[in-house]
Amino acid sequence: MSKRPRILIVGAYGQVGRELQRSFADAGEIIARDRDTVDLAAPDQVRSMVGDSAPDVILNAAAYTAVDRAESEPDIAMAVNALASGILAEEALRAGALLVHYSTDYVFDGSKAGPWVETDVPNPLNVYGASKLAGEEAIRRAGGKYLIFRTSWVYGPHGQNFLLTMLRLGQECESLNIVDDQFGAPTSSIELADATRAIVSGVLAGQFGAPSSWAGLYHMTCGGSVSWCGFARAIFARADNLLHGKVPVVKPIVSAEYPTPAKRPRNSLLSNEMLNTRFSVQLAPWEVALDTVILRLADTAY
Ligand SMILES: NC(=O)c1ccc[n+]([C@@H]2O[C@H](COP(=O)([O-])OP(=O)(O)OC[C@H]3O[C@@H](n4cnc5c(N)ncnc54)[C@H](OP(=O)(O)O)[C@@H]3O)[C@@H](O)[C@H]2O)c1
Repeated sequence: MSKRPRILIVGAYGQVGRELQRSFADAGEIIARDRDTVDLAAPDQVRSMVGDSAPDVILNAAAYTAVDRAESEPDIAMAVNALASGILAEEALRAGALLVHYSTDYVFDGSKAGPWVETDVPNPLNVYGASKLAGEEAIRRAGGKYLIFRTSWVYGPHGQNFLLTMLRLGQECESLNIVDDQFGAPTSSIELADATRAIVSGVLAGQFGAPSSWAGLYHMTCGGSVSWCGFARAIFARADNLLHGKVPVVKPIVSAEYPTPAKRPRNSLLSNEMLNTRFSVQLAPWEVALDTVILRLADTAY
């Protein structure tokens, strides 16, 4: 593509959306949209947002992400995660745009012993996972050019996430009980955005050939695996400066000791082999990505 691409970022002020704005800042003309300019639960607004933007690329980082609340608000979760995703895909097709969309490890039930691959059969345990799976299917059905990246345990310097919750609770509590029987790969919004940028730039430059050779669904997470408890311990081991030396004791518990409205998968680990093979892109190991986010937070704290 010779002209500067028009890049529409939807959910531009969520944790991934903000990092996409940073990573794509010099990639083209950025059109940033969020709840203050479009309600994704209103199909007409979604259609006119795309029509008015005339994008070459749509990066959809918006989603209904309140996993527990979704159990009591299934209609809103479905409207945003499934219906709006399908409409975005239809409008992307009409505009001739590439749609990049994110999905989740929560499409799986966690019962597999090893990492989940793209061809494994999903079986969501909760409403959020079911709504995200319906979104994947709606995008596929629309028949345009798309990339769906399934990721897991997203955190970063902004928004609501496990890292920032731990840093807040770490200042308030002497000890914390953290679930130690759910495993996954914490994935930083920075890594996710930069990997997305590398792949989209390659696609726009024609590096990966025709859409038939690259369009589709890929798993995209940081490397390695850890439990929530292990992740919390790693955060506190690195966050001395941010907590001014006040580090809480972290006690492991099992999921049954921390009941939540939504059930969560035991094994959330996603294999990234297909992503690596197709695009030669590999996200950092989760510990390295965590170092980077902690450094970013430390830089902005002083
Ligand atoms: N967070 C995770 O652990 C995780 C794990 C796996 C996959 N993912 C996927 O990764 C993607 C990015 O997630 P994230 O963590 O960056 O989410 P996030 O921080 O919750 O951001 C989502 C964005 O979507 C916006 N949004 C929600 N409902 C909307 C509506 N009706 N109309 C317009 N905007 C709306 C939110 O606006 P408000 O802030 O105003 O609500 C927010 O800006 C999503 O597809 C998510 O499903 C996330």
